Amino acid sequence: MELKEQIYKDNLPKHVAIIMDGNGRWAKKQGKLRVFGHRKGVKAVREAIEGAAEIGVEFLTLYAFSTENWNRPKFEVDALMSLLLSSLKDELKTLQENNIKLKVIGDISKLPQKNQKELQQVIDKTKDNSRMTLVLALSYGSKVEIIDAVKAISEKVKNDELDISEITEDTISNNLYTSEMPDVDLLIRTSGETRISNFLLWQIAYAELFFLEKLWPDFDRTDLFNTILDYQNRERRFGKTSDQVK
Ligand code: IPE
Ligand code: IPE
Ligand code: MG
Repeated sequence: MELKEQIYKDNLPKHVAIIMDGNGRWAKKQGKLRVFGHRKGVKAVREAIEGAAEIGVEFLTLYAFSTENWNRPKFEVDALMSLLLSSLKDELKTLQENNIKLKVIGDISKLPQKNQKELQQVIDKTKDNSRMTLVLALSYGSKVEIIDAVKAISEKVKNDELDISEITEDTISNNLYTSEMPDVDLLIRTSGETRISNFLLWQIAYAELFFLEKLWPDFDRTDLFNTILDYQNRERRFGKTSDQVK
């Protein structure tokens, strides 16, 4: 049976998030500049997007650039920004053909004007697509996201729109950049690193975590399908006993 057909449709992760890591090491291994790895990584991005849409994932969030990544050498940051710009132009077709909506989370105001404009255009053009939502985490940091949520909630308390006693988990969730999305079910990180690197700290509270050895440019939809099969073999107990959830 084909790999894809072994996946149970009634137990799919609704929200898959990926930390796309290892581009630089991939390039180094071939004696090339790090930037070459980023360029190669674009194909893996397409694999992840198409693979996720094919099997019926509703939300796919890709960590493309962190708040901390601004501290990389200017040469690399510039290369990543221009790669983002050209990929947005190239991949609009992929998004339309696959009926995928684009969203962005992060502090977009830090991006070059050209990128902000292109992002807004792709978001507008794909806003009515309904098969899957692709969320790009760009200039994203989970701690800043939480600070922003605390500020927004505090403002409501100050203006007597919200009583402190009414603050619940939903209050926090609804004030994060991801307010319209369910929490992450499945988190994948490539490149063998076993850390979260300031990604969706609140939203992964009960996610299943998968750390793959492969470097990001080598990632393809088979890796995604295999990880989802693994995910379906895990028992998500949410604090209950195994007997309770069976
Ligand atoms: C991930 O690959 C891409 C970004 C962070 C933008 P890296 O650039 O982190 O590659 P490594 O981890 O140094 O190999
Ligand atoms: C995390 O990767 C950020 C992205 C994949 C965009 P990094 O390579 O920046 O993370 P660290 O430095 O290894 O934690
Ligand atoms: Mg890295």
